[in-house]
Amino acid sequence: MPDTPIAAYDAWLRSRFIDLNTGLEEAYFAARDDQIPGHDAPKDAILREGAALIARIDDVPRDDGDRYKLLGAVGFHLAACARHGVGDATVLAPVWTLARLLGSALDVAPRFVFSHQSLHNPAVADVFHMFTTLADEAVFIIRNGEAVLAYRRAAHALSAVASMGVSNPMATYLFEDATAALGDVLRFNQALSRELDPERFYVNIRPYFTPHVVGGTEFRGVNAGDFAAINVVDLLLGLCEARDPFYQGVLAEKRPYLPPGDAEEIRAVLPTASLLDRFLDETAPGDPPPVLRRNAELFLGVCRAHGAAYAYHHHRLVADFIEKPATDRPTPAGSSSGPPMEVVLGMLGRLADLRAARDKPGTARERLDRLRNLLG
Ligand code: HEM
Repeated sequence: MPDTPIAAYDAWLRSRFIDLNTGLEEAYFAARDDQIPGHDAPKDAILREGAALIARIDDVPRDDGDRYKLLGAVGFHLAACARHGVGDATVLAPVWTLARLLGSALDVAPRFVFSHQSLHNPAVADVFHMFTTLADEAVFIIRNGEAVLAYRRAAHALSAVASMGVSNPMATYLFEDATAALGDVLRFNQALSRELDPERFYVNIRPYFTPHVVGGTEFRGVNAGDFAAINVVDLLLGLCEARDPFYQGVLAEKRPYLPPGDAEEIRAVLPTASLLDRFLDETAPGDPPPVLRRNAELFLGVCRAHGAAYAYHHHRLVADFIEKPATDRPTPAGSSSGPPMEVVLGMLGRLADLRAARDKPGTARERLDRLRNLLG
């Protein structure tokens, strides 16, 4: 028997919780609908059993990492209740209280985000916390998580270039590493698209990621973009700019949904000159010295890899797994984050234009062309 209230709740999450959710998901899938009436007993069991176990947790861990993991565990319960449409405020009150306490202590939104499912989700005997035992959920988390790790590897390599200078011979290796990492992002996205069933995703997985209320306040839905790495890559490459009001809005909006430490990573690169600007400053017309030339060519390759990986997200993942299934339904669901789908698609489309430096106003296209011309 688990000997602490946290361990008892954890054991419930790893067993009965996923069994109840999986049974319900099979019923939703049989009806090909992400909401179905009835099935009150399992829905109510998720609500009440989870809330009773969480109400016993009166001792909050001292360590921030353990607090963050506990917030994720509590967040799993709240996300499942919202997904099944059970939200009795009296029953949920102790759950909301703990979630808000943990969120305030950590300065993050008091809900589960994708990092709780990926980077802060300890596996026990090969198994990490999931909502269900559905193979599609595992594929979704693992491939998304791998893509997040690959973005972090690219961000790490480019951050190291920022401190050593763009014509440094050792930066050559880092540019190659960043290109390989962004190639991995594309590869994981392609694997996700091959292995994930769009119908399963739409009916059984996406609904756990939608907005829900915690103690009277609604918090937006979450996605694999709630990390700093992609923004660190955007800013360091110079494809997105810290002074662009649109991009400032993107950064400000995601701030409470980032895992601890990620906001600092974005802050650290905000005042830094981009690598593109540094290449433009160092490259005089004529014949650039060999290392500068080689690194600049590699840098242009990193930009292409970033644009290609994100274009795949936009034109395949978002289109095939959200847009198309939504339009096939009589009452299309909204976006996971909350705003109308066309608003979210407009925002993602603008990010795709910026990251691919398309020939549109406000992108880095003209400066990249200038660098190409300087290289001759
Ligand atoms: C089935 C797979 C996926 C689908 C359907 C999907 C869909 C979406 C949607 C609809 C949004 C906007 C969220 C909103 O505001 O409502 C979004 C955001 C985002 N997604 Fe995905 N996504 C998928 C996988 C991934 C993967 C594997 C990555 C890579 C780590 C990723 C990275 C991002 C990022 C970075 C954002 C935030 C906006 C940005 O900065 O571009 N997504 N995604």
